[in-house]
Amino acid sequence: MMLAALAVCLPAQATDFPRQNYLLYCAGCHLPDGTGSAANDVPTLHDIPGHFIKVPRGREFLAQVPGILYSPLTDVEAAEILNWMLLQYSQPVLPADFKPYTPEEVARHRRIKPADIMKVRTEVLAELATKGIVIDYTAH
Ligand code: HEC
Repeated sequence: MMLAALAVCLPAQATDFPRQNYLLYCAGCHLPDGTGSAANDVPTLHDIPGHFIKVPRGREFLAQVPGILYSPLTDVEAAEILNWMLLQYSQPVLPADFKPYTPEEVARHRRIKPADIMKVRTEVLAELATKGIVIDYTAH
């Protein structure tokens, strides 16, 4: 009984801090303001992820980037960081019917580990282009 209660409580407590988790687990590379570092090939987290979620494969992709896939974050925490990241940095381009990630969805995507994540990104970019959404990394 005690253990079950603990298992329910711990992730819930740890998840009150998506921003702190962002600073701990992501900001070292993507910087505290999410702008990334072109010189180090770390992409910005502004706006582009907000476009990615407009296609299902892009939604999966966000939960499969190495920073999410191989982090010690629980699925609850990973979902919270992704939602926080989208609201914080992509609000202007988020679709009106934006549905936040649930931990269950993140868990499902995280079970798939793409061998070549950059290839997945190329495919997502191509799919977005067919919808008229053209993403230019050099502009960020
Ligand atoms: C060790 C450095 C590092 C850390 C830590 C890191 N990332 Fe990344 N991230 C990258 C790099 C580099 C890429 C480019 C894709 C690649 O090389 O895998 C990337 C790609 C991404 C992308 C895709 C952006 C795009 O336009 O393709 C997202 C979203 C992302 N990271 C989110 C996160 C989040 C959220 C965290 C924290 C949980 C995180 N990253 C932690 C280095 C990092």
